[in-house]
Amino acid sequence: MSKLIFVGNFVSPVSLDDLKIANGYICVENGIVTNLGLKSDLENFMKNTDLRDFTVKRLTKDQLLMPGLIDCHVHAPQFPNIGLGLDRPLLEWLDTYTFPLEKQYSNEKFAAEIYDQVVKRLLKNGTTTACYFGSLDLNGTLELARKVVKYNQRAFVGKVSMNIPNDAGYYNNTDKEAAEVESFIQEIMALKNDLIEPIVTPRFAVSCDEKLLTKLAVLAEKYNCMIQSHISENLGEIEFVKQINPEALNYADVYDRSKILRKKVHLSDTETKMLAARGVSVAHCPASNTRLRSGLCPLRRLLDAGLTVGLGTDVSGGDSATILDAIRRAMDVSTHLEIKGHEGAAITWKEGLYLATLGGAKDHRIGNFDKGKEFDAILVDVYENSGPIDKYSYSIDRTDDEYIESLLQRFIYLGDDRNIIEVYVKGAERYPEQMYNGPLTSRTGRACRLVCAILNRFNIMKNDNFLCEVYEKMHLEKIKTKIKEFQVSVRSHHTLTMAAVGLGGECAGPHSQARSSGHLTRLESERDLRVVEARVSGAVCAQRADADADANAPGPTTRAPTLTT
Ligand code: GUN
Ligand code: FE
Repeated sequence: MSKLIFVGNFVSPVSLDDLKIANGYICVENGIVTNLGLKSDLENFMKNTDLRDFTVKRLTKDQLLMPGLIDCHVHAPQFPNIGLGLDRPLLEWLDTYTFPLEKQYSNEKFAAEIYDQVVKRLLKNGTTTACYFGSLDLNGTLELARKVVKYNQRAFVGKVSMNIPNDAGYYNNTDKEAAEVESFIQEIMALKNDLIEPIVTPRFAVSCDEKLLTKLAVLAEKYNCMIQSHISENLGEIEFVKQINPEALNYADVYDRSKILRKKVHLSDTETKMLAARGVSVAHCPASNTRLRSGLCPLRRLLDAGLTVGLGTDVSGGDSATILDAIRRAMDVSTHLEIKGHEGAAITWKEGLYLATLGGAKDHRIGNFDKGKEFDAILVDVYENSGPIDKYSYSIDRTDDEYIESLLQRFIYLGDDRNIIEVYVKGAERYPEQMYNGPLTSRTGRACRLVCAILNRFNIMKNDNFLCEVYEKMHLEKIKTKIKEFQVSVRSHHTLTMAAVGLGGECAGPHSQARSSGHLTRLESERDLRVVEARVSGAVCAQRADADADANAPGPTTRAPTLTT
């Protein structure tokens, strides 16, 4: 049983207007939060707890632990189009860019490759839970589920359903579609993995007729599955749905008639009430609403109506794969509405954080650090060396609590994946596997990232025929045993001393000296990792022109290739 205690700053949303911010401890046993308390209780807790089996992780003053981010709406197959074609309205964008791409996922190899990248990218961005739209293809979407399982993300995965013909020929006939959805549900359930659930996914009422919607509602009932779809995103879409469903009162009614109800921009009061009454949750996706020029969603009105609201990136209608961006855009759009006269419309950063975590997790066993919750979390280092946030000697904070709140506020407004140094899903760290694509695992995410960055550096250096593939040929075990040393050196002074990593007899680079033994010394950490100096057999074989003269007693320079910095 894994047992962890985090000691340091943590943040845990309680409700839309209540956020717990504290310095203390969180105890995690077998993936579940079993205890938490304030710093003042820590000594007592440690005294009264048998800590022998626990790993204690002490956070630095500038780090904080917060619940993992939840992406309530993201289209996994659309990632290869991210940042493209956002100059067209929804229906045109779907026909021109999206359907032709999604059709490619009937090629399982293609699907497996892309989905591997997608799941890793989201985890890197701190998305511990994603609610995915897959593609129309059954096997292609099963590949997505396999990647979710491979990287141990928490996810809802949906095979997209469509039966109304379109120009791309991207649809199924009704009976085939219903049969495939049932197979998909059964296959996901057969995985018996409590982190992944199937979700019934009619694309929207432009792509699904009442007959299919009704069949899908029956399947959702039969297997007790959630349902996800799109609604009232764009005025052209609404008009089209009215045309093909003349008997329906409004868009929501099309879904209600077929018992589907479960993203919306243009909802009337009647529709909003209907959705609230049916227990529907909303994924607010401000990026795609703006990029596809759909409209400004009155988020406050949805919240006031009692709807459960989470945030979605909606890639690739949305142009950013991080929920941090969704928080910021939700704040911006709602503020613009307030500026335009909608009193009280603007949401605060604390509300944004709630929507990105607990808001998206309604009735679920995640979203904050309450006792009994499953521990999905990100460890944030606000002033991480390579990150976007600089630390200044001036600070406005008077108390420790104010200091922590400022850390959080800065991360919400300015942070990015470089600040997310560890990612946990149900108590297990996700970061290392995600970075490596290989069997290397370690509890020290930061150290792993360093090794990984170094590996990348060597790949770049391959062209130089210089120390190439050194690490690839090293025994993984050896790297593992050295990881601690990385961490120590990174913690103590932000210069990574790689002298600890003996390249020994294991390395087999084409450079003759590298074959016997060698060291690399003085690498700076993280993303701006630069090879300052590399040594082989104690001899400096590469040195940056501006490297310090006192670099660990350099030996004779035998070779000075140009290193990419
Ligand atoms: N409505 C129907 N399909 C889609 C889609 O793929 N993206 C967005 N943003 N809206 C949709
Ligand atoms: Fe969408």
